[in-house]
Amino acid sequence: MSAHHEEQSRLQRVAVIGGDGIGPEVARAGVTVVKATAYRFGIQLEFEELPLGADHYLETGETLTDEMFAHLRDDCDAVYFGAMGDARVPDMRHARDILLGLRFRLDLYINLRPVQLLHPDLTPIKGKGMSDLDLVIMRENTEGLYVGMGGNFKKGSPDEVAINEMLNTRKGVERVIRAAFEWATENGKRRVCMSDKANVLQFAHGLWQRVFKEVSAEYPQIEARHLYADVLAMELVRAPEDFDVIVTSNMFGDILSDLGAQLVGGLGLAASANLNPGRVSLFEPVHGSAPNLAGQDKANPLAMILTGALMLNALGHPEAGRAIERAVAECIASKEVTEDLGGALGTQACAEAVARRL
Ligand code: NAD
Ligand code: IPM
Ligand code: MN
Repeated sequence: MSAHHEEQSRLQRVAVIGGDGIGPEVARAGVTVVKATAYRFGIQLEFEELPLGADHYLETGETLTDEMFAHLRDDCDAVYFGAMGDARVPDMRHARDILLGLRFRLDLYINLRPVQLLHPDLTPIKGKGMSDLDLVIMRENTEGLYVGMGGNFKKGSPDEVAINEMLNTRKGVERVIRAAFEWATENGKRRVCMSDKANVLQFAHGLWQRVFKEVSAEYPQIEARHLYADVLAMELVRAPEDFDVIVTSNMFGDILSDLGAQLVGGLGLAASANLNPGRVSLFEPVHGSAPNLAGQDKANPLAMILTGALMLNALGHPEAGRAIERAVAECIASKEVTEDLGGALGTQACAEAVARRL
């Protein structure tokens, strides 16, 4: 990713898509903190709320129109996204069109998901501390099992066939693997681990193996390691200190990032950035719409707030991003957090506690 420059004068426009369930609640909390940070650092941000989500879809039949997409692509600098998923849309049609649609159509090929312990008490792993849990998962974000190619044959009959294709392109695999080595280089990290199931998926992940070998040879200063995804799941719990950057395919990255989240305190703290450096990117927490918590001011907003830090960083304001991370860590240390982390604050009160510390 390119070097970050402070660009404090230019007005940057952030589109906010709350979405469903706890999405709008955590989005509001996140905007509170990002606004406070922007004010403190003299960053000019303009927020525009878009009503996309299940309600809008059920009312209008619209998911992501071409006009809306063009607006996000051409007129906005970032998309700050809550979560989608609603029981009234069981096939997730709207989320596929909007969330996956934005990832694909904006070509956001890197899904960066940090796994970083912000307080020693938050990890369930015995004997591990803050220096042991500090890695990023870089998930391929535009292909793999997510492309929606496939179909049914004889649907609903006892002879039914159901197929989802896993698509891997040379270009797609190479650019995310290269991004992993670049990220390690730029962030002073020593190790990149690529994870696949080449022992079973000999064609698709055979490609990952060949490309990894080629690209890693260009970065002799970085230690390149390979683990099958099943073993990686085990190693992440046994020895998380062995990892700096993990690069993997779309579906494995999805699964491993929830595992990683729980190693450092749970989904309420896990942030992510969907990136294509130099283009408008999309920032969303790793968690979903958590219908069990929706509408109760109970959701932990810190994942969304830390996602705001990733967004400010990508918009060229790394100091502002770091300030948010520090304020979040302070709130955790002083138990100014929601119930899931053992605190007593509601969603918005927690965000205001973070904002006060800025
Ligand atoms: P989920 O992430 O919504 O919830 C999993 C568990 O984590 C639940 O127990 C929930 O209460 C808890 N949790 C999640 N976020 C939390 C927060 N901020 N604070 C405290 N606890 C939190 O996953 P799910 O239940 O599998 O999915 C619910 C819906 O969300 C589904 O429709 C799913 O497809 C969708 N989803 C959307 C996204 C997204 O929009 N990026 C991501 C994952 C899942
Ligand atoms: C995530 C989510 C999404 C994914 C779903 C909601 C499509 O689980 O962002 O991790 O699988 O990518
Ligand atoms: Mn997920």
